[in-house]
Amino acid sequence: MIALGCDHGGFELKQEIIKYLESRGLEYKDYGCYEPASVDYPIYARKVTSAILDGTCEKGILICGTGIGISIAANKVPGIRAALCTDCFCAEATRQHNDANVLCMGGRVVGPGLAIKITETFLDTPFSNDERHKRRIHLIENEE
Ligand code: RB5
Repeated sequence: MIALGCDHGGFELKQEIIKYLESRGLEYKDYGCYEPASVDYPIYARKVTSAILDGTCEKGILICGTGIGISIAANKVPGIRAALCTDCFCAEATRQHNDANVLCMGGRVVGPGLAIKITETFLDTPFSNDERHKRRIHLIENEE
């Protein structure tokens, strides 16, 4: 299950991502916003990260205008590794190296075609499970 969230700056792109997920038959839960009126992105970062931490969803996709604010908000939550991606190289690397559990994108930064390729790469790339990457991920939230 994939958790989706956005603010007004990411609303249109989220609709494109929903179409893509549906075309692949991938299950998702949409945590809003549900219309393009101005809203506060940290609220949606919190909803999506909570859904991951309570086990409702395995991964999340968060979209705001730049992707920056919503990724900052998501990364404040322990256990969340949110990656702001503007290309497929980063989307692949963040899954392999960081085991990122949230993909962030900017609806005013990437077009729908690229955003869908980034999403596909993020969802389809497994974590490498390499010891060095596991150690580094552990060090993000633990002193040793
Ligand atoms: C909203 O105007 C905009 O600030 C927000 O979508 C995001 O880009 C913040 O980082």
